[in-house]
Amino acid sequence: MKTIDDLQVAGRRVFVRADLNVPLADGTITDDGRIRAAVPTIEKLAGAGARVVVASHLGRPKGAPDPQYSLAPVAERLGELLGRPVAFAADTVGESARATVEGLADGEVALLENLRFNAGETSKDDAERGAFADRLAGLAEVYVGDGFGAVHRKHASVYDLPARLPHAAGGLIATEVGVLEQLTENVSRPYAVVLGGAKVSDKLGVIDHLLARADRILIGGGMAYTFLKAQGHEVGDSLLQEDQVPAVREYLRRAAELGVEFVLPVDVVAAEEFPDLKTKAPADPAVLSADAIPAGRQGLDIGPETSALYAAKLADAATVFWNGPMGVFEHPDFASGTRAVARALADSPAFTVVGGGDSAAAVRTLGFEESAFGHISTGGGASLEYLEGKTLPGLAALED
Ligand code: 3PG
Repeated sequence: MKTIDDLQVAGRRVFVRADLNVPLADGTITDDGRIRAAVPTIEKLAGAGARVVVASHLGRPKGAPDPQYSLAPVAERLGELLGRPVAFAADTVGESARATVEGLADGEVALLENLRFNAGETSKDDAERGAFADRLAGLAEVYVGDGFGAVHRKHASVYDLPARLPHAAGGLIATEVGVLEQLTENVSRPYAVVLGGAKVSDKLGVIDHLLARADRILIGGGMAYTFLKAQGHEVGDSLLQEDQVPAVREYLRRAAELGVEFVLPVDVVAAEEFPDLKTKAPADPAVLSADAIPAGRQGLDIGPETSALYAAKLADAATVFWNGPMGVFEHPDFASGTRAVARALADSPAFTVVGGGDSAAAVRTLGFEESAFGHISTGGGASLEYLEGKTLPGLAALED
């Protein structure tokens, strides 16, 4: 994979596909981690005299402009972080984009509007995606792929565009891939993996792959209840993917056969209703044994005994990968489990990697120093698919 150092960029228009898909609440960015992660590559290119054209998606608009998914707040924040103005184009391949790009001097930076305002970006039809990629290619002379969080998407700006321009990987992709290689080749042991988040179906692929690699797998979050059910426990009104119970049972059986330790919650924090995340009103939480959650109660976090157990299971690990919160960390009554796992990683001398998405946002919103972790990934789905052993379109496209 070529890097920026292999490209001639001075005086040239360089298209940087970043992942600036940040969480927004009422138009305000609630976690700017992905924007900060994109800065070094943009700075390096601008410093080398490139005319930098940054592009990204935000959210999942339906192939047409939708103001709630505008990248305008991101352009402003990017400008603050770069300490220089960022020209913002009100479209991606239209008049505004063309004029904005033409107006760039050497060393200046522009951001295009949300790529997904065009149906061609995410189309499953190769010709439709290709046609959009042709139009994007008209804006620049060189391509830098740096949107690690989107490399698992076969989208026009990620997959088709690099085939049309001289291309290289940006610094963020190079770093992320280097870290993931450390999690897949010559791993220091014991290797512990903590998986959480809502849906067990999102994690089956990675569990399947990690069973042959990890020494210990700790389960939390909404997905834990499908595991508890697979062990024959009642889970009350907790989140449950009943159709996944047979698959989970099979993984538990295989893990026992392979000597991989599966660690499940022994207690949970439960409430009668899902809490209000806007008002954060008290939710009347109760700690219950994980093998006896009654009807009318739903588990929303791992309990204190489980937190202590998981911290102990992580204490002697040499490598830890964590993806997915342990509970509804956005509400203070259900944040303790996620905080405890984050604390265990932060205190550990192991090589610790936090997968992107919710778990990366959680460690930042819960106030942990980023430097306490080995690496905080910007890609949730992307890092999981990498660890599943899949070929990622956005990385394959940068290979040649
Ligand atoms: C992410 O948030 O995981 C990436 O930005 C990809 O977004 P997507 O799941 O909407 O493709």
